[in-house]
Amino acid sequence: MSHTSSGASGKITAEAIRQRKGNTDRISCLTAYDYPTARIMDEAGIDLILVGDSLANTVLGYDHTLPVTLDEMIHHAKAVRRGVKRALLVGDMPFGSYQASIEQGVTSAVRFIKEAGVEAVKVEGGLKRVELVRQLVDNEIPVLGHIGLTPQSVLRMGGYKVQGKTMDAAQTLIEEALALESVGVFAIVLEGIPREIAKVITDKLHIPTIGIGAGVECDGQILVINDLIGLGFNKPAKFVREYLNVGELMTEAIKQYISDVENGDYPNESESYHLSDEVAAKLRKARMGKIA
Ligand code: KIV
Repeated sequence: MSHTSSGASGKITAEAIRQRKGNTDRISCLTAYDYPTARIMDEAGIDLILVGDSLANTVLGYDHTLPVTLDEMIHHAKAVRRGVKRALLVGDMPFGSYQASIEQGVTSAVRFIKEAGVEAVKVEGGLKRVELVRQLVDNEIPVLGHIGLTPQSVLRMGGYKVQGKTMDAAQTLIEEALALESVGVFAIVLEGIPREIAKVITDKLHIPTIGIGAGVECDGQILVINDLIGLGFNKPAKFVREYLNVGELMTEAIKQYISDVENGDYPNESESYHLSDEVAAKLRKARMGKIA
């Protein structure tokens, strides 16, 4: 897939993602939080892997994304890094890592890059984030924007609600997208907005839009891996397509294991180590000697 990559290695860069704008061959993106999952998706050919702050609810068991810390994000991003060779690796700036000041945001992004080896960062928010994004880009850090239903705004929004449903709200979203583009994001995630508005934004921008609950007209799509493989405990959102139910498969396998252990069916002969015939004979002799 030479059009997605730069250099002979086939490595996907932020610039290569930017150049996919308008391609009929859309950009595929997923979240990952650990080494094996990241390695499997990278080898399967995914374009972009996001170490999302959804780490908080998918893996760490929190109710929303707000509690996860930058240290926790970096810890997981390091594991993901070891599994990824080809895809663009993006680190999600968690709540509290950029709200205090622009300086705090730049320092957090630099840590993400230096300590975890991510190649870009994602920041939630539109007009409020323009100055931070400008500074990040000026400091050579590729930024993925994120507008619409931004989960870090859950307390203000009073829940996860589809955004941009009125003409005014839609107009604000369009302005936010254009503002982020003007300060240099290489692409923008559009989350939880009507398909029609996502299409308007996609048509207006010169950079790719990556949709999640934003319809098919975006230049790419992203999903949370746990949703795609059925490894969650909540009712999936309307836009989720569950390709597999790992939760059910795991339950079946674990129940079978419990029953095999209880019945003495596990481990069997081929799952056990054995002495050589010579040592086994000596052992038999020694045991017989003791008994005699
Ligand atoms: O944290 C996350 O999972 C996200 C989504 C856009 C996938 O931000």
